[in-house]
Amino acid sequence: MSETRAQWKSKFGFILAASGSAIGLGNIVFFPANAYKYGGGAFYLPYFIALFLVGIPVMILEFGLGAWAKKSFPLAMRQAGGKAGEFAGWFAILNAAFITLYYVTILGWVVGMAGEALANPVNEIFMGKTKLAWGAGMQIPNPAGTFFAMISTWLPMAGVLFVWLLNGLLVSKGTKTIEAAVKIFVPLMWLTMIILIVRGVTLPGGMDGVSYLFSPDLNVLGRMDVWKGAMSQMFFTLSLGFGVMTAYASYLPKKSDHSHNAFTTSLLNCGFEWIAGVAIFSMLFALSIQPKASTLSMMFFIVPQGIAKLPMGAQAFAIGFFFLLLIAGLTSSISLVEALVAAMQDKFKLSRAKTLAFFGILGFLGSAAFALPKVIDPGLGSNGTLGLTLLDLMDHWAFSYGLLIVGLVECLVIGWGIGSHRIRDFINQNSKFHLGRWFDVLIKFLIPLLLAVILLMNIVQGEVLGGLYGSSAVTNYVPKGGILSSLPVIILFVWLLGTLGLAFLLTRAKGVDEVDAVCSEEGGMQ
Ligand code: ALA
Repeated sequence: MSETRAQWKSKFGFILAASGSAIGLGNIVFFPANAYKYGGGAFYLPYFIALFLVGIPVMILEFGLGAWAKKSFPLAMRQAGGKAGEFAGWFAILNAAFITLYYVTILGWVVGMAGEALANPVNEIFMGKTKLAWGAGMQIPNPAGTFFAMISTWLPMAGVLFVWLLNGLLVSKGTKTIEAAVKIFVPLMWLTMIILIVRGVTLPGGMDGVSYLFSPDLNVLGRMDVWKGAMSQMFFTLSLGFGVMTAYASYLPKKSDHSHNAFTTSLLNCGFEWIAGVAIFSMLFALSIQPKASTLSMMFFIVPQGIAKLPMGAQAFAIGFFFLLLIAGLTSSISLVEALVAAMQDKFKLSRAKTLAFFGILGFLGSAAFALPKVIDPGLGSNGTLGLTLLDLMDHWAFSYGLLIVGLVECLVIGWGIGSHRIRDFINQNSKFHLGRWFDVLIKFLIPLLLAVILLMNIVQGEVLGGLYGSSAVTNYVPKGGILSSLPVIILFVWLLGTLGLAFLLTRAKGVDEVDAVCSEEGGMQ
């Protein structure tokens, strides 16, 4: 006896939800920051290779897996590859849970910055000229100062609580509440972005930014970090390797066109990303601001600084920008929460309300850790707060390694476990676009090989030759000396234990279906 699984009301609702999951902070700020860092137009070549060779095929695989198994990620992976598959599935969910924790913290900071923009004239707070209303009366030393002053107060904690409450509310009735939310938020996101792009390209000199974005600098293609950047960006932006797309597709009728859904979702996501790039580059170039920034600085001081310089309506544009970040981030964070809740519910048949309440509280506590306002750099010039440092350290593992590891393992489990041809045959039954044998070659050989090479090169270049965290600037933010100097190692252990250790325990735990099966076997033998 199987209970009926929730279903999306319409294909349109599913596409809105899946594209809403994909479109998030990754599109609006990570993509422009990466595009600049990796040579502007040159980034497009690795990006397109990552999209067509890896992103879209893995999206097809994750959709196909969910609809075929009608289960969320860990149990679907178990159906495809036994216990090893389930272990990999839980690893993915737990790695995604770490990302969700700090993703919500970033959204909490977005709420804080929106609050600052509502309470202060933006042409002052983003130009380093004034005292903040809510920044403990702190004098702002420079444009970045607004952000550092804000995160060193308890204000973001309220933002984090607000975002977790919204997540709980929007996931409370599963597909029903998610579909209702994305029907409002996703069109609103597109509308706000279109307004931003029109503003950007109509500024005198705005088109210079656009031409920078599209003119290639082929010299960077030999750099391994560019390829890894493109690959990580692709997994993150398409919400792959989180278990999200499999959970969402498990609520579709089996007879859906999964290849078509995967193409539509991926292209909507990338389309949004490109226009976000155009909007941000045109504005920054027109206002003579270099978009040379990390992703967080792009979001919290470079773009706001650009907006503050706009000749008209700066205040409204700043509030609109933070509002856009918040709703785009929310439609992604609810999908991450849904993937986790659905996985626990499928395995242990728990009530949604209790599961959500438990993980909501745990989630709030975790996000609160990343929002800790303890100042560890009194100058607030570079190091900022303890929370920000923890976030950087966790991001190094969960984002830069975790997602690519999941991608590699899921291809191997499905490709060599059940066999990718089984999922391919299943998809082809209802798909107008026929997946040929090339799909198996990609899933079984090419994608795992590509991801393995990138991961290996990074481990060797970054962690082994460079010392732990060697390839990144993360450890620059860790105070030298004292207990806090052990943070890099502590965070690595928290991540390893939290993902591998818990995945091991969850895989070993007997799910309700297994207990039922044993009971009915025993009953049958009596
Ligand atoms: N795909 C989501 C984003 O880009 C997680 O933000």
